[in-house]
Amino acid sequence: MSGKAPAKMAISTTINGQTYDFLCEPRQSLLEVLRDTLQLTGAKEGCNNGNCGACTVLLDGEPVNSCIVLAVEVHGHELTTIEGIADKGHLHPIQQCFLEGAALQCGICTPGFIVAAKALLDKKPNPGEEEIRFALAGNLCRCTGYDKIVRSVKAAAERMSGNGSLKQNPQPTQTSQQQAQQQQ
Ligand code: FES
Ligand code: FES
Repeated sequence: MSGKAPAKMAISTTINGQTYDFLCEPRQSLLEVLRDTLQLTGAKEGCNNGNCGACTVLLDGEPVNSCIVLAVEVHGHELTTIEGIADKGHLHPIQQCFLEGAALQCGICTPGFIVAAKALLDKKPNPGEEEIRFALAGNLCRCTGYDKIVRSVKAAAERMSGNGSLKQNPQPTQTSQQQAQQQQ
């Protein structure tokens, strides 16, 4: 064994609509690169072996456990992470409904649940409870139990079904509120 570090590979991918070019070793996981190289720390490391879903991101629209995807595999593909779910300072309805439904405690599992729920609602805007539970079966939560999470996803589906597309959180951000007050 020479003890030399393995050669790094040049990877180009789109994350949350933005192009990212980075170097990584062939052995590095996508989660490691997202968190340590690209500073996208929203995806969490729970088990680091594909069991808990805390690290879920969307790869070409499909939920994957980023701890068991190699970073080199995403070359030329499209990723969505939890950082890309909110829209210009407005929480996504799933995020808003998790807050309103008290569907989190420590929050470690929450990014993974929200990303997995988005993948479901993108494909199936009005899922039944069983479909929601099935879609979230790969995401584990040690704190809340699952009922509040499932209810929150259902509430988000109902909130979004008004126009069949992603509807922005109707509550303005604090900055918008301040602007409105200044204009009065
Ligand atoms: S950290 Fe990836 S599945 Fe648990
Ligand atoms: S809120 Fe703590 S693990 Fe789910």
